[in-house]
Amino acid sequence: MNDSKGDIDNAVTVRNVYKNYGDVEALKDLSLDFPRGQLTSLLGPSGCGKTTLLKIIAGLLPATSGDIQVNNQPVTGPGPDRAFVFQDFALLPWANVMRNVAFGLELRGIDRSEREAIAETYIANVGLKGFENSFPHELSGGMRQRVGLARALSVDAEVLLMDEPFSAVDEQTRRKFQEDLLNLVKNENKTFIFVTHSIEEAVYVSDQVALLLARPSRVSEVIRPEGFRHKDANSIRRDPEYLDIVDRIWASLRTYVE
Ligand SMILES: Nc1ncnc2c1ncn2[C@@H]1O[C@H](COP(=O)(O)OP(=O)(O)O)[C@@H](O)[C@H]1O
Ligand SMILES: [Mg+2]
Repeated sequence: MNDSKGDIDNAVTVRNVYKNYGDVEALKDLSLDFPRGQLTSLLGPSGCGKTTLLKIIAGLLPATSGDIQVNNQPVTGPGPDRAFVFQDFALLPWANVMRNVAFGLELRGIDRSEREAIAETYIANVGLKGFENSFPHELSGGMRQRVGLARALSVDAEVLLMDEPFSAVDEQTRRKFQEDLLNLVKNENKTFIFVTHSIEEAVYVSDQVALLLARPSRVSEVIRPEGFRHKDANSIRRDPEYLDIVDRIWASLRTYVE
C-alpha cells in the first residue's frame, strides 16, 4: 500500500509547516506531499487546521514557518496554478451564474467574449446549462456548489483545493457529486486536495488519505486506499477491504478525539 518515496512527481509539497494565530497553535510541524494527478483527502477533527492548511497552500494565508512548494516553486501568494472551492461556495450574490463562473477569468483580465465562452463550457459540464442568468439565491445548495466548482474548473488551475465542498448538500446530491468528482479525477489531469469529514467518502474517492491530529495539527498517518473508486458505490459498502480501511481510520481518528 505504500509508494517508495523519491520517484514520485509531487505537484505540491508541504514541509515542516507551523501556523500560529496569536497564541493558538493551529499547525505544528506538518509535512505532506501531494502527488500530481492524484486526489488527496484531509481527514481530521473539526478545528484541527484543515482549512488553514488549504489557505496556506492557496497562498491566501502565510505560514508562520515552513516550506510550501507548488511545482517546485515556493508559494508566496495566490497564483493561477491553484483554485479554491470554498465550503460556503463564496458566490457573488449580486451576480448571475455566468458572471460568477467567469469571475476567476475576469480577475485574470480575460476579455468578456472569451471568458463567457470558457464559462459556458464548464456551466454545461457541471449540468447547469439553462441557468446562466439565474442568481445564487434562486438555486439550491447543490446547484450553488456546482457554480463554485465550475468557477474553479474554468480557470484551468492545475491544483484544486476543495474545502468540504459536499458538506452542505443532501445525501443523494452528495453521491452524484462524488461521481462527478471521480470523473474529473479521471478526465482532467489535476491534483485534488480535498477536505471532508466523511471517512467513507475519503476512502471511496481518494488516492491517498492523510489523517490529521487534533490541534496543533500534523499528519499522523497517510493511507492509500486502492481502487475503490472503480467499484460500484453501492457494492463497496459491503466490500470487506473497504470496511476494513474505514474501521482502521475510524479507530485511528478516535484515538485522538478524547
Ligand atoms: N483567523 C483566525 N484567528 C484565530 N484563530 C483561528 C483563525 N482561523 C482559524 N483559527 C483557529 O485555528 C484552528 C484551526 O482552524 P481551521 O483551519 O478552520 O480548522 P478546520 O478547517 O480543520 O476545522 C481552530 O482552532 C480555529 O479556531
Ligand atoms: Mg474547515
